[in-house]
Amino acid sequence: MYEHDVIVVGAGGAGLRAAIAAHEAGADTAIVSKLHPVRSHTGAAEGGINAALQEGDDWELHAYDTMKGSDYLGDAPAVETLAQDAPEDTMRLEHWGMPFSREEDGRVSQRPFGGLSYPRTTYAGAETGHHLLHTMYEQVVKRGIQVYDEWYVMNLATTDEDDPNERDCHGVVAYDVQSGQIEGFKANNGVVLATGGPGQAFDHTTNAVSCTGDGHAMAYRAGAPLEDMEFIQFHPTSLPSTGVLISEGVRGEGGILYNSEGERFMFEYGYANNSGELASRDVVARAELTEVAEGRGIDDEYVHLDMRHLGEERIMDRLENILHLAEDFEGVDGLVEPMPVKPGQHYAMGGIETDENGQTCINGLYAAGECACVSVHGGNRLGGNALPELIVFGKRAGRHAAGEDLGEAEIRTGYGDDVEDETDTELPVQPGSAGLADTGVAADGGVTADAEGLLERAVERERERVDRLMDRDSGVQHAEIRSKLQQAMTDHVNVFRTAEGVKKALRTIRECREEYQNVYVDDPSRTFNTDLQQTIETRNLIDVAETIALGALVRNEFRGAHWRQENQVRDDENWLKHTLISWNGGNPEIFYRPVILEGEEKTYEPKERSY
Ligand code: FUM
Repeated sequence: MYEHDVIVVGAGGAGLRAAIAAHEAGADTAIVSKLHPVRSHTGAAEGGINAALQEGDDWELHAYDTMKGSDYLGDAPAVETLAQDAPEDTMRLEHWGMPFSREEDGRVSQRPFGGLSYPRTTYAGAETGHHLLHTMYEQVVKRGIQVYDEWYVMNLATTDEDDPNERDCHGVVAYDVQSGQIEGFKANNGVVLATGGPGQAFDHTTNAVSCTGDGHAMAYRAGAPLEDMEFIQFHPTSLPSTGVLISEGVRGEGGILYNSEGERFMFEYGYANNSGELASRDVVARAELTEVAEGRGIDDEYVHLDMRHLGEERIMDRLENILHLAEDFEGVDGLVEPMPVKPGQHYAMGGIETDENGQTCINGLYAAGECACVSVHGGNRLGGNALPELIVFGKRAGRHAAGEDLGEAEIRTGYGDDVEDETDTELPVQPGSAGLADTGVAADGGVTADAEGLLERAVERERERVDRLMDRDSGVQHAEIRSKLQQAMTDHVNVFRTAEGVKKALRTIRECREEYQNVYVDDPSRTFNTDLQQTIETRNLIDVAETIALGALVRNEFRGAHWRQENQVRDDENWLKHTLISWNGGNPEIFYRPVILEGEEKTYEPKERSY
């Protein structure tokens, strides 16, 4: 058994930042990650970091843009913290050596991004995430923080009191990808989940294959509610054949979207008369798909993004990476022809419910980054707001887990008096795993006062679970189940949603859950067994996809990235509230908590959102 004060799970931007902060606060800190840190998906972030750095800009404007972008589903205290802390935390990266793009006079460059009232997106070419990872990994190495890379965390070791608010997390169980060993990692102070998003629940996504919602699923099954899972961002410019991201930075620099008629449709058809291509992402994604639906798409599938007029010098200076991506993945030379683009799943606004210090309702369990919902993005995240979230809330989670007093958080978590009762929406199938045989994936380790005993039992359960999977010599392969799930989510829980479609997705998810009872691992090896790892990840995807579809079915309104055919208006009277879903021993429960619109000095009154 390994033992540290703080265990950070995941080594992307939030994980590295949390680990640095916990270490600086004096905790013996370790990172456990299924990937080597610099292979984390944060490395695929292209566009930049929003931070009010320049004269003329200020954190209040950033907070206002973010609340408006969220369609008034962001919690104001968290949004204000994001906007207030982003400048200092961004400059700290600069002091650590992050190679930001610069102006002639040496100042760090900032460019316009969708939904921003000021050009406040700080960037390093079109590979900001790559440089962010390398800059922070250097700091991790410099501080001697222990990294267990290629260790896949399979489960949490938590107690299982009836009330999840009373549960404690004492560590994690992880699988050494290289040797196949399964070991316990005891956390004396806390576990910080920084496991990224669940993009692999969809078929067409900008997300890496590693984005399988592991942290979401483990925390959910351990009793921490998932919040606002129905809000999935579809990025307007992904390459049609692969889902590879073409940065919003292209439009920030002046790139233009055209339909098959050569029309600049964002203006021509009034989708966003002021901001055009730089409206927020939900608006642009819907506009593109409307163009295709109305017969003005290209090959009935995509639109064109043109950056030729920016000129080779500017493109090479600020967007060189985009040229390589378009050439390598689509065979298109962006200097001489427009690039084909269409919406692709990109980001989950929801996640594990946390307060501003990253705390979940389970003692000792924290979450930060895309796997968490604090909530700063609400119904729609603004481009360039993910990276500041990683550094601002990763840092806070790391410090708090290390035992620093950050003051009382204004945002509540878990189950309490301020929650509204369960929904009365009729569900087409029984969600969750109740009624199915135990697949050995419950997150609990049993109630015990002894943390070591708890962890040992949790390790034993995981070893038995893997043995069961490996012993089976026939059945359904995880890839079959996963692709069925991804197809259903892409077909029915996409940009445009109908109740009937989402119900179909829920039925398919139920089938996937039942088929998973008979899942079989073909590769008998114990070393580098990606088949086994992906089989475990697929179970996580099933649980997380179900929360996305459940949330999408019950929220009968149009807010941010969530559009519903049956009610195409934002319904503030009934829906100015967060959706929470708790696992409840395999019988998922839906409940609600009001949005907090009161900031430090002002209330963000919901207004009509136009760009
Ligand atoms: O378009 C982009 O470069 C992505 C940025 C983001 O998701 O924040």
